[in-house]
Amino acid sequence: MTDAIIKHIREIFPQKGPIALHEPVIGGAEKKHVLEALDSGFVSTFGPNVATFEKQLGGYIGADHVVAMASGTAALHTCLMVAGIGVDDEVITQSLTFVATGNAISYTGAHPVFLDVEASSLGLCPKKLTAFLEQNAMRHPKGCLNKQTGRVLKAVLPMHTFGHACKIQELKAICEAWGLLLIEDAAEAMGSRQGGKHLGTVGDIAAFSFNGNKILTSGSGGAVVTNNAAFAARARHLSTTAKVAHSWAFIHDEIGYNYRMTNLNAALGLAQLEQLDAFLEAKRRVANSYKAFFEDRPEQFVEEPDGAQSNYWLNSILFPTEPERTAFLDSANKQGVQVRPIWEPLHRLPMFSACLTGPLDTTNDIAGRVVNLPSSAVGGLGI
Ligand SMILES: Cc1ncc(COP(=O)(O)O)c(C=O)c1O
Repeated sequence: MTDAIIKHIREIFPQKGPIALHEPVIGGAEKKHVLEALDSGFVSTFGPNVATFEKQLGGYIGADHVVAMASGTAALHTCLMVAGIGVDDEVITQSLTFVATGNAISYTGAHPVFLDVEASSLGLCPKKLTAFLEQNAMRHPKGCLNKQTGRVLKAVLPMHTFGHACKIQELKAICEAWGLLLIEDAAEAMGSRQGGKHLGTVGDIAAFSFNGNKILTSGSGGAVVTNNAAFAARARHLSTTAKVAHSWAFIHDEIGYNYRMTNLNAALGLAQLEQLDAFLEAKRRVANSYKAFFEDRPEQFVEEPDGAQSNYWLNSILFPTEPERTAFLDSANKQGVQVRPIWEPLHRLPMFSACLTGPLDTTNDIAGRVVNLPSSAVGGLGI
């Protein structure tokens, strides 16, 4: 039965040989920009490309401030530090996310609290968030207190899974009502919008990733995005070893990080940005092909939420049962078609297994049934 799926994947990606889950398209001025950067001698974090990349990205996303970073993980860690998250604070996030979301919270010394996702968007469920807060939280002069642990709940950190918008406006309203900061993990959401707004611009601050497996890649890279000037300045300072501006002295006024993007990576990122709209169109063609194919099949294709425009970073389907999913993963991978399960939910990983959780019914139900399908833009570009 699932041979038909593999056949359809091969029709979308007719090249011979193995089919990757997501490969970069290096189809524009990448080599030119990178060679120019090499010739300029600016190969590290100094050089003009980083500032240009930040400006162009800010224009594209519609955000006042962009701070280009070495990775999405570095960007996420910086977002949390900038938001004032520290030792023994609590940050609410979803269990069904890539491990970097939980890791970044832990780097600050804070505790992740894992809540459920909703099945439609695979993003943090606003109803479950409200229920958790009503049951466990109280407003206090110190902030939003977790009555169970006595710790301060500082922020909510949803993730836009596979580029699909979570219910970010609803989450924002809940955060405002409870005095919580909203940090968006938009690592997978370059090019995705909801209600006309680019994802990552609704919350207080957001992190993007430009890893090699993302729609827009700078090799490795990321960005902190915010409309808050003070947050942006702090992100810049912390990620540049907390160096005090001076023409020659090395004065650092706190523990900082070497987290900035390099001029070489920004050169690659700039060339990719020039092609982003073409990539998005190509990926939509791939998604539309999958959507039509799965219309009368038992597997359910995950579609962009109402009112949202997804980048369809990774196309995904839900199998009716876990054994069917596992059989498909086995068979497709053996045939050179790279398909992947969704991440193991974070609350089941050893380093997070003692963390506080809410009810995780949807997470536990769908974690064993989701499969990501090959989704590279090459499929829609016909190259
Ligand atoms: C949801 C999520 N958060 C964070 C990251 C971390 O990004 P990076 O791999 O660039 O460090 C990724 C990317 O892989 C991701 O998918």
